[in-house]
Amino acid sequence: MVKRGKSSSGFMAELKERIIAEARALEAPGERMLTGIRGFDELVRGGLFRGATYLLSGVSGAGKSIFCLEFLYRGATEYGEPGLYVSLEEHLDSILRNARNFRWNLKSLIDQQMLILLDLSVVAVGEKAMSLNTDAFTLDGLYATIETVVREGGIKRVVLDPVSVLFLQYGNVGVVRRELNVISGMLKRHGCTSIFVTETEYGKPSITRFGVEEFMADGVFLLYWEPEGDKRSRYIEIYKMRGSPHYEGKKRLAITDNGIVILY
Ligand SMILES: Nc1ncnc2c1ncn2[C@@H]1O[C@H](COP(=O)(O)OP(=O)(O)OP(=O)(O)O)[C@@H](O)[C@H]1O
Ligand SMILES: [Mg+2]
Repeated sequence: MVKRGKSSSGFMAELKERIIAEARALEAPGERMLTGIRGFDELVRGGLFRGATYLLSGVSGAGKSIFCLEFLYRGATEYGEPGLYVSLEEHLDSILRNARNFRWNLKSLIDQQMLILLDLSVVAVGEKAMSLNTDAFTLDGLYATIETVVREGGIKRVVLDPVSVLFLQYGNVGVVRRELNVISGMLKRHGCTSIFVTETEYGKPSITRFGVEEFMADGVFLLYWEPEGDKRSRYIEIYKMRGSPHYEGKKRLAITDNGIVILY
C-alpha cells in the first residue's frame, strides 16, 4: 500500500475526485496535437490526443528513447510546447550525447526552459550514489516531483523512460500499475500529452514486459528491430489508439541524421 500521509477518508475523497476527472477527460472530444515526427502523425490520422497517455514499447535498441526525445524536441522547437523527459535508466550525459548525433541543440532548449531533463537513473543518498531503489526513491516522490515540474514549468509533453524499471524495482506489479495510472491521471489533469516507455523481451508474446501496462494507456505503439537475413530492419505499429482510426499493420521506420522517419 502506498501511503500519502493522508487519512483514509481524505485519500478516498481524493481518489474519487481523480476518477471523476479522468472519466471527464475520456469523454471530452479530443483535441489533437502533432508530434512533429515525420510520417507518424499521418499513421494516427492527425496526431495524438492532447492530455492522453501513450505507451511506446519495444526491445532494447529499437529506438524508443530517440522517438521520445524527438517528440519533445519537435514539440519545443516547432510547436512552442515545453517538455519534460524523466529518465529512469539512461544517464543524462548519454541522452545529451544521443541528441548531439542528430544535431538537436537540447542545451539551448534547456536554457530557454523549453525542455527539462530529470535524471532519476541514479539517486544520491548522502555521499553515496545508488541506483533507483525502494529505500531511496518512493513512487509518491516520483508523483510529487513530476507534478511540481509540470505545474511550474507549464509542461505540455512528458516522457517517462522506461517505466518497466519501476516494475523491476518494486516487485509488486499491482502497486506500480496503480501508481502509474495515478501519475497518468495527474498528467491528464494538467493537459499533458505523455509517453510512457516499456521494454519488451525478444521472443516473449506479451506486448509489454509485464503484460499489464497496456490496459491503462490511451494508445500503444510498438517499435520493432527485426532480423532480416544478415541485417535488421526497423518497423512501427499502432497497436491501439483510443478514439481514432489508424494505420493497421507495420510500417518501415528509419533513424536518420535528422531523427526518425516513417517510410512505407
Ligand atoms: N544518428 C543515428 N543514426 C542512425 N541510427 C542511430 C543513430 N543514433 C542511434 N541510432 C540507432 O538507435 C539505437 C538506439 O536507440 P534508442 O537508444 O532510442 O533505443 P531504445 O529502444 O531506447 O533502447 P534501450 O531499451 O536499450 O534504452 C542505436 O542502437 C542505433 O541502432
Ligand atoms: Mg532507451
